[in-house]
Amino acid sequence: MNPAALIPTPDILQVPWGWFQLLLLLTLYMHILLMNVMLGTAMIALVNLFRSDGDATPLARDISRKLPFAIAFTVNFGIAPLLFVQVLYGNFLYASSVLMANIWILVIALLIIGYYLAYILDYRFDALHGGRVLIIGAAVAALLAIAFLMSNNFTLMQRPGAWTRYFDHRTGMLLNLSDPTLFPRYLHFVVAAIAVGGLSLALLGDWRLRRGDQDAAAAVRSGCNWFAYATIANFGIGFWFFGVLPREVHDLASLNGILIAVLLLTGIILGALSVIYSLQNRVRPALSTALLAVLVMILMRDLVRVAYLRPFFSLADLQVEPQYSPMLLFLAVFAAGLVLIGWMLKLAWRAVAGGEVRS
Ligand code: HEM
Repeated sequence: MNPAALIPTPDILQVPWGWFQLLLLLTLYMHILLMNVMLGTAMIALVNLFRSDGDATPLARDISRKLPFAIAFTVNFGIAPLLFVQVLYGNFLYASSVLMANIWILVIALLIIGYYLAYILDYRFDALHGGRVLIIGAAVAALLAIAFLMSNNFTLMQRPGAWTRYFDHRTGMLLNLSDPTLFPRYLHFVVAAIAVGGLSLALLGDWRLRRGDQDAAAAVRSGCNWFAYATIANFGIGFWFFGVLPREVHDLASLNGILIAVLLLTGIILGALSVIYSLQNRVRPALSTALLAVLVMILMRDLVRVAYLRPFFSLADLQVEPQYSPMLLFLAVFAAGLVLIGWMLKLAWRAVAGGEVRS
């Protein structure tokens, strides 16, 4: 069967696709950064509690306080890119979501479980004793499972050739396990989360250090080490991932392929710089280079999708029937929302730092 016959006709856009692409990249960048902080710090707390045999440590207590916030922000900043990716690639993403529907729907259940466990850990941290490792371990497992399902869907959507397997097993449980890029891609995200999670802890330590808390120096060193060693490991995983991508994706005969090569090189340089800075415990330069490296990776990830879909579809093919007012209204609400979130964060930070409330 010709897989192209399975691709639904795309909807008509109200504004040129570049607007949606820009918003997709911007909001996905925020989602991925927040996801990294959430997942990475949760994994670090798990290791920390495991090493202390479940005894309460200041680090684990600190992370457990912030985890419900981090989950809430990750989820909320996941919705916006989900809307934009559906606008641009709905005909691919709806198809892949339906093909794995019975498993895809589990994301909601896993999210509720992970969120609930994070609250239990926060509110019962002292009373839990030996149960802490179990609770944070189960929360981390739920979050890791969500990330795995995300990687499955966002790789399955770009491989219509694999969709025909549905006709052998009409169950709505089609994962993308036959794709050699799935596991390196997933691991690349997870290990990056550990790195960025570590860096976020180093940043918090740096902030406390600058306010005169000398004990925070250890947190800076430990956070920087998590970042540096996880990123060094991720160089290996990244090359594995790149090596299994189809040749057409990084074909230097196309502009897309050249852009991917340039971004890859830039990402490697930025990644190496951030490792050097973090090994010197220089948190701020490490942070700026790491933020740029993640941005470069997000851009590259998008170009990889463009290359995968090229035989079937190009964003430039999408028809436009101009209607700008909804977009303008959206931008106004979006800007107001960001201001509101900034204000809420400030209030929440003040309350948490002052020990007044928990999430
Ligand atoms: C809270 C747990 C979550 C985790 C651990 C997580 C993790 C991830 C990961 C690892 C990716 C990249 C997948 C890949 O490209 O291989 C991703 C992408 C994405 N996530 Fe999440 N995510 C979470 C929640 C959500 C939620 C609740 C939403 C939506 C409501 C969401 C929306 C998205 C979207 C739309 C993308 C990709 C957009 C694109 O391909 O352009 N995420 N997420």
